[in-house]
Amino acid sequence: MLESMSYTVPKLTDFSTSALDSAVRELLSALDQESAAVSSARNQNEVAHDVEWKQLWEEWKAFRDRWLARKNGITTQINDLWLKAAPKETKRDVGQRVNELKAKIEVEVGRAEAHLQRQESDDQRHLIESSGKSYASLDDAWRATQGVDITLPGIRRPLGAEHPVIKTMNEIIGVFRNLGYSVEEGPEIETDYYNFEALNFPPNHPARDTQDTLFIAGQESKPPRERLLLRTHTSPVQIRSMEKMKPPVRVVCPGKVHRNDAPDATHSPIFHQVEGLAVDTNITFCDLKGTLDHAMKALFGSSVKTRFYPSFFPFTEPSADVQISCIFCGGKGTRDGGPCRNCKASGWIELLGCGMVDPNVYGFVDYDPAKVSGFAFGMGVERIAILKYGVDDIQLFFNGDVRFLEQFG
Ligand code: DAH
Repeated sequence: MLESMSYTVPKLTDFSTSALDSAVRELLSALDQESAAVSSARNQNEVAHDVEWKQLWEEWKAFRDRWLARKNGITTQINDLWLKAAPKETKRDVGQRVNELKAKIEVEVGRAEAHLQRQESDDQRHLIESSGKSYASLDDAWRATQGVDITLPGIRRPLGAEHPVIKTMNEIIGVFRNLGYSVEEGPEIETDYYNFEALNFPPNHPARDTQDTLFIAGQESKPPRERLLLRTHTSPVQIRSMEKMKPPVRVVCPGKVHRNDAPDATHSPIFHQVEGLAVDTNITFCDLKGTLDHAMKALFGSSVKTRFYPSFFPFTEPSADVQISCIFCGGKGTRDGGPCRNCKASGWIELLGCGMVDPNVYGFVDYDPAKVSGFAFGMGVERIAILKYGVDDIQLFFNGDVRFLEQFG
């Protein structure tokens, strides 16, 4: 403890204004002196190292506790020896003075702390600079000059959780794995050939417009089919799989796809799809219906019904959109006495595209359309996750807000 700390709170018997004035003056002058002593305790001629700083902080703590400790600190003492002992008619005056003193003491203790903190970080910087070493970050420098304090608590690294999109994707893959499908992946940067041409999109065909393709710039000198783009769907992996293997083929192809779409509650320029392809002898539309009906029941519950609605895709003929009975209203079209908003009162929700592989596609991969037949399907992962988990905005999947993500942990 510093020598200057010799002040003791006097017991008051005289509560006259002049006696109070002088008691207050004495206390404040002691506070001033002690605060100055703590603030200037660092040897002004030398930079203090951490051992010395430990000592300096001990002194500041002693100063703080002497004045502010609940048990027998000076603020407590003036409460007991001055305020409580004051005769009734002076209580108001004494109370006001005691409160003012308490506030001043708190300010002074805080001021001394801030002063020491400034000096300590100056010393820190000085030590780092004069060490002649360079550090990657201030944190590294701090650690290098401080050493490791093994009494500090460890760094808590919160457990991560599977992202809801990946979780849903894995669930979809799991359903098809159980049916004997294997998993194939392909590149996100594709050629026009795989993304369009081999999937029977003729050059300049209007169906290409529906895909809002993002092309890589500066490829005008290349033949059109070699030009690179960000794949707009996972269907090119169908072609790559058929190039690699002979029938029978049963694959699912999960992955990220890109489209030039402005983000809103239902659109994102990046999203995920799972593609499916089955090619063998004698595969029929019945197989397609049975497979997808089973998959939708596995994903959404066994009471879900499916419906196949005529559609068009260049790489399937015939093509269909698959609808499932609305999981919110049970397919009734009404909920809580009004129209169901999720299915626009139709009782059905459109979920994926599918069809029988167009014979033209086999021509690109050297399969004999007279011998084999097959079906394909493609579904959006976010769309399925939105329905399964009742998410109302696709952007939530991509914002990285931990409060949203941790609900799936
Ligand atoms: N590729 C289509 C799309 O992104 C989805 C699709 C539809 C995939 C029908 C298929 C299919 O394999 O047969 O819109």
